[in-house]
Amino acid sequence: MTAARLRAFGTTIFTEMSALAARTGAINLGQGFPDTDGPRELVAAAHSAMRSGANQYAPLAGVPELCLAIAEHQRRRYGLDVDPECGVQVTFGATEAIAAAMLGLLEPGDEVVVIEPFYDSYVAAAAIAGATPRFVTMHPPDFALDAGALAEAAAGDRVRMLVLNSPHNPTGRVLSRDELAAVARVCIDNDLVAVTDEVYEHLVFDGEHVPLARLDGMAERTLTISSAGKSFSFTGWKLGWCSGPPELVAAVRAAKQFMSFAGGTPLQHAVAGGLADAERHVAPLRAALQADRDRLCDGLRAIGFGVSVPAGTYFVNADLAPLGVADAREWCRELPSRAGVVAIPTSAFYERPEPAQTLVRFAFCKRPEVIEEAVERLGSAPWR
Ligand SMILES: Cc1ncc(COP(=O)(O)O)c(C=O)c1O
Repeated sequence: MTAARLRAFGTTIFTEMSALAARTGAINLGQGFPDTDGPRELVAAAHSAMRSGANQYAPLAGVPELCLAIAEHQRRRYGLDVDPECGVQVTFGATEAIAAAMLGLLEPGDEVVVIEPFYDSYVAAAAIAGATPRFVTMHPPDFALDAGALAEAAAGDRVRMLVLNSPHNPTGRVLSRDELAAVARVCIDNDLVAVTDEVYEHLVFDGEHVPLARLDGMAERTLTISSAGKSFSFTGWKLGWCSGPPELVAAVRAAKQFMSFAGGTPLQHAVAGGLADAERHVAPLRAALQADRDRLCDGLRAIGFGVSVPAGTYFVNADLAPLGVADAREWCRELPSRAGVVAIPTSAFYERPEPAQTLVRFAFCKRPEVIEEAVERLGSAPWR
């Protein structure tokens, strides 16, 4: 059953589009990864850890320095009380933390509230765990979270978990305090575990990121997930973690130990140092990203796309309707050959594509000259 469900997911559109970009030489504004390295200091720290012999399995939880740095980061930045020994688990990217949370906390037949559009691994990981998603849809152009729809989806005998992502991929939204309060209310009312994906926690340009665990009654039922990939621009390091109450973290650990056990030891040492001084490292990355966001948004708007400016993350959504294009999926498939650019149809993040038929997601985590060239190509493409 699980094998069949996984086969049905096929190759993701991100993999397909990145392969298309590599094959055609198109500028890849599809998949969300920066085209420059993160802080040199962290690379030097990873080298130094390798040279000093930190090359064997890490402890299952993660190297103690990193677990401590994660707990201290949560305390310093958000006032959250996290036990560095029992309340932290280092994982192979946020993606493994998400999968291990579902495998460790759900039984086959359980249901999970998933807010769409969603990062693709949530629904696949639920399928691996034998669980079924219950979708709550956020609609363009504002992608607001509807408290009534949320309450309806969360109320059911088999619902055990709610997955929340803020700052949100693909919309770039940072959820408001009212929206977070609505999420907290349904989790408490229905006794749900909240799994929060906060990989873009440091990449907020407008407003403020508030972890769900900060809300009253939520710390004891929330597993908070993050990743060095996004915070420090090292997506290829695949170094993530979760933190929260010991019983939730223990469930993740039980699953994770048989998925990959423990690895990336020198990278863990480097990220421990990075997190201890996170703001110093992240501030310049965030400033550059914000300038790239504005560059791409302005460029797309000048061409005639409908643009909603994202408050955070790597992504902007552009509406093709003002350009007279009705099918964004088709448009994205033709874009590499027509314009030499790759983008992702936003409908790929929905269970049912209807709300986002004319929307396209562009990644702006690229060098300024790459964004300028992409805008130039889009502006002079023959499809208009
Ligand atoms: C919302 C979200 N969660 C998780 C991930 C993956 O994180 P990692 O590379 O640490 O597994 C991504 C990557 O794009 C993402 O956008």
